[in-house]
Amino acid sequence: MTKRAVEGFSKLSKKQKIDWLAKTYFAEPDKAIALFTKYWNDDKKLQQLHDEFIENTITNYYLPLGIAPNFLINDRLYTIPMAIEESSVVAAAGKAAKFWLGKGGFHTSVVGTEKVGQVHFIYEGDPKTLAAYFESVKPQLYKDTEEITANMTKRGGGISSIELRDMTDKLPGYYQLHCTFETLDAMGANFINSCLEQCASSFESYAQQYPAFTESEKNIRVVISILSNYVPNCRVKASVSCAVEELNEDGMPAEEFVEKFIRATDIARIEPYRAVTHNKGIMNGIDAVVLATGNDFRAVEAGVHAYAAKDGRYTSLTKAWVNEGVFNFEIEIPLALGTVGGLTKLHPLVKLSLEMLGHPSAEELMQITAVAGLAQNFAAIRSLITTGIQQGHMKMHLLNILNQLRATEAEKAYFVEYFKDKTVTHRSVIETFQQLREKA
Ligand code: MEV
Repeated sequence: MTKRAVEGFSKLSKKQKIDWLAKTYFAEPDKAIALFTKYWNDDKKLQQLHDEFIENTITNYYLPLGIAPNFLINDRLYTIPMAIEESSVVAAAGKAAKFWLGKGGFHTSVVGTEKVGQVHFIYEGDPKTLAAYFESVKPQLYKDTEEITANMTKRGGGISSIELRDMTDKLPGYYQLHCTFETLDAMGANFINSCLEQCASSFESYAQQYPAFTESEKNIRVVISILSNYVPNCRVKASVSCAVEELNEDGMPAEEFVEKFIRATDIARIEPYRAVTHNKGIMNGIDAVVLATGNDFRAVEAGVHAYAAKDGRYTSLTKAWVNEGVFNFEIEIPLALGTVGGLTKLHPLVKLSLEMLGHPSAEELMQITAVAGLAQNFAAIRSLITTGIQQGHMKMHLLNILNQLRATEAEKAYFVEYFKDKTVTHRSVIETFQQLREKA
């Protein structure tokens, strides 16, 4: 069937949208409609809340929310909420938490909380006149944004700096107003973007009256005004340490374990192919917490990976070393997170996640999230250098297949035991399952 573009789609009701979709794309429209609507929440108010997060909502897309208890961070115990679809991640976090619990736990600190936004503009005149104009207009830029910044300033935040940057050696006529912000417990995207748009419009319009500009120099043209998700100075550190001999894990002598562990992080430091996967494992932990706490995981992902490449080559976000018989493992990453505003007030499960964490400040959440990343990386490297990761994954894979087959709890227990020393494949599970059911 040739499909035709649809007109006025956003004006249709939810039900009409689903009908159109089902008829246009699905072999069995009634079945599709039934499934889409099955995922609606019976609580109409709750459903409406979710419907209104985005546009053209047709249903809900569930992700599991798991918890990883026993995280000792700066001597305080946390249970960390994790929203993620990948099996083994939460189990790995819980295992790493337990392991470090008996060894002093995790230690963290916030290195900085500076957010960034830029007004990118074109100016094709004398750079010195532009610099003089900028200095003369700068106080006015702060003044013009006062209405937006008043509340934030009262609480100790606001615009921290506005700087003119000449980028013409890279792109003819290209300059920036490079602005930094303190947004306290808010992620601050709306705040920053509103400030930038106001600065941009003031900067463009005052130029019209600046006497030292020639007629053509008055023509400052703003291209875009937007926050940056690259926040290298909004950074957090998390670390663990213990005596080398305490790491005699998984049947491997401590010395060998530590040697291999450090080698694995060194490989990720120098080899981008490995670094990307190494960091992906870290992001398994970080994204799960970011999502559970209603933060923007795309922003965090973009910023973290840019930071991993800040020296011109993509590298590992963690490092491990031994000093005087003590094993150290550390992560340092940029994380722009919020615990007020945005989804944090709206999504009921986000509210519970934040309550579970004891209503953290943004700085505290940065530390908890970095710990989740470090723990995940520890767990992944530990598995990789000892048993390999398939052992854990295969058990989950086996359970997923058994769930699809609607196996009973007793059958599941039997299969876990049966496949302990055998390779799990989809086919072998199905065959064994059929044999078992035939016998019964
Ligand atoms: C899988 O989601 C993550 C790992 O590949 C991470 C790693 O290799 O370090 C296990």
